[in-house]
Amino acid sequence: MCGIVGYVGPATDGTALDVVMEGLARLEYRGYDSAGIAVIDGDHVAFRKRSGKLVNLRDEITGRPLSATTTAIGHTRWATHGGPTDDNAHPHLGGPEGRLALIHNGIIENFHSLKTELLAQGVTFASETDTEVAAHLVAAAYERTHDLTAAMLATVARLHGAFTLLAIHADQPGVVVGARRNSPLVVGLGDGANYLGSDVAAFIGHTREAMELGQDQIVTITPDSVSVIGFDGTPAQGRRYHVDWDAAAAEKGGYPSFMAKEIDEQPHAVADTLLGRTKDDGELVLDELRVSEDALRAVDKIIIVACGTAAYAGMVAKYAIEHWTRIPCEVELAHEFRYRDPVVNGTTLVVSVSQSGETMDTLMAVKHANELGALTVSICNTHGSTIPRESDAVLYTHAGPEIAVASTKAFLAQITACYLLGLYLAQLRGGTAADEAQAVMRELREVPDKIQTVLDRMDRVREIARFMADSRSVLFLGRHVGFPVALEGALKLKELAYIHAEGFAAGELKHGPIALIEPGQPVFVIVPGPDTPHDLHAKVVSNIQEIRARGARTLVVAQDGDEAVVPFADEVIRVPRTPPLLQPLLTVVPLQVFACQLATAKGLDVDQPRNLAKSVTVE
Ligand code: F6R
Repeated sequence: MCGIVGYVGPATDGTALDVVMEGLARLEYRGYDSAGIAVIDGDHVAFRKRSGKLVNLRDEITGRPLSATTTAIGHTRWATHGGPTDDNAHPHLGGPEGRLALIHNGIIENFHSLKTELLAQGVTFASETDTEVAAHLVAAAYERTHDLTAAMLATVARLHGAFTLLAIHADQPGVVVGARRNSPLVVGLGDGANYLGSDVAAFIGHTREAMELGQDQIVTITPDSVSVIGFDGTPAQGRRYHVDWDAAAAEKGGYPSFMAKEIDEQPHAVADTLLGRTKDDGELVLDELRVSEDALRAVDKIIIVACGTAAYAGMVAKYAIEHWTRIPCEVELAHEFRYRDPVVNGTTLVVSVSQSGETMDTLMAVKHANELGALTVSICNTHGSTIPRESDAVLYTHAGPEIAVASTKAFLAQITACYLLGLYLAQLRGGTAADEAQAVMRELREVPDKIQTVLDRMDRVREIARFMADSRSVLFLGRHVGFPVALEGALKLKELAYIHAEGFAAGELKHGPIALIEPGQPVFVIVPGPDTPHDLHAKVVSNIQEIRARGARTLVVAQDGDEAVVPFADEVIRVPRTPPLLQPLLTVVPLQVFACQLATAKGLDVDQPRNLAKSVTVE
């Protein structure tokens, strides 16, 4: 959700403003309702903030420049408490003459009672946000302690909820203090300068050395020191790591949008996720999991928890994991799992799937699974993020940074990583399951080239998308692993093009949705390959005939050589032949391209769709 940047640099350097503005530009994908920056300028705090996208803040600073400085914090907002107005934008000030500035990501759940208390003390509020409560509390604590770290420590003890806070105080130039509870914050380690960010993109242009913080920790940075304490005041250590991608990976590289670039990066996302995970003889090695083979062999039930696109990756994986391992596998939206009474025990494997590793709903589900004694494995794309830390083990996807709000390459990498986990469990079980695992791995290694083939054929799909820019509703049908692909195709279109779109299981058609079909209704149909068991191919071809007979315009995604669909298709979008369980890695690609192109044709910003934010860090 909100993006947070902090910087302290050399006393002679005036670049803090530039560094933080650059960081905000890289974090704008996290929230783009409003943006703001605060700097220490001589003996006072100066700030600028504006509703709308970052460009509004830039214009404001051009009109009313800020002085060169060594200490700055900046924020891009995704509104929770209080609408996206100039007043509600961060930073918020506290203390006499506003000598303290504070920015926040998350939700302070007890803000109402704290605000009532502060109002009774005569504090005046300039915004409707929960954040301002924290600004006044830290400022008041500073008046007592004259130390920003101590003031932060006193304040966090009073806050409930999830938050990352960053504060600066005019009395302490050269110091930024951050605190985190269930909300992301990483440290960038520079040479004579240090950084704080919601994620490493905030400072990747300056350093690739980072430090992960634990939950409930406070970090204080100066140009040449980083110190960490727990919320109980005891000293703590962060874990240092090297970021394995650079600034170029977080830039558009000549593409019109991050989404277009990330769609094109999918062959690499899958290939890199497979890389180094098999021996020469094809045996899978997932040493990084660091869970004993015995614990994995004992697993008798798998529950995949995730949200949105990641949950659809889990739905795809369910078909494969149950087929390969014969272990019952459920997929559940993380927010539903958390607040019911799931049957989970020590032999349940709870697999969380999350690109960001920060999705609060998924994090809460993982914590709940831990409390219930489950074995928890995280499939995640972001090193240093919270969900892997809270899990017993992690299997990283290697999709590289995903900047566009709508997930694409992470989806393919998540399916791939779930498959690796499923195949590994099958391998541990031995016998025919292990033989099949090796055969599937061979097929999986061919998938990146096949995705490239799909990408090379997308001109016609782009053309169709442009023709369909005025569509008011598009339906998606799929069966077996094609069903979650249909759901994902519909989600992409809804979130990017703001068009009514729904995905259905093709077999469900006659149980209701067929009533939606009227002349001209566009329907994408994801057709299983002709070799899919149980005659599913023929059944879906019948579905195409049924909707066509009622006037639907059929856009059929089918394998090369599948001629049975031709008589009933208005358009055939071809993908290379691949075994049934691997087909989603190919069939989803035209749907992503379609949504991206249709939204672009409508003049919409595909990287930053309205009302959405990457990384949903509130429940
Ligand atoms: C849709 C999309 C979201 C995310 C969901 C989970 O395009 O991006 O549905 O998939 O918010 O996010 P992560 O994977 O970061 O947990």
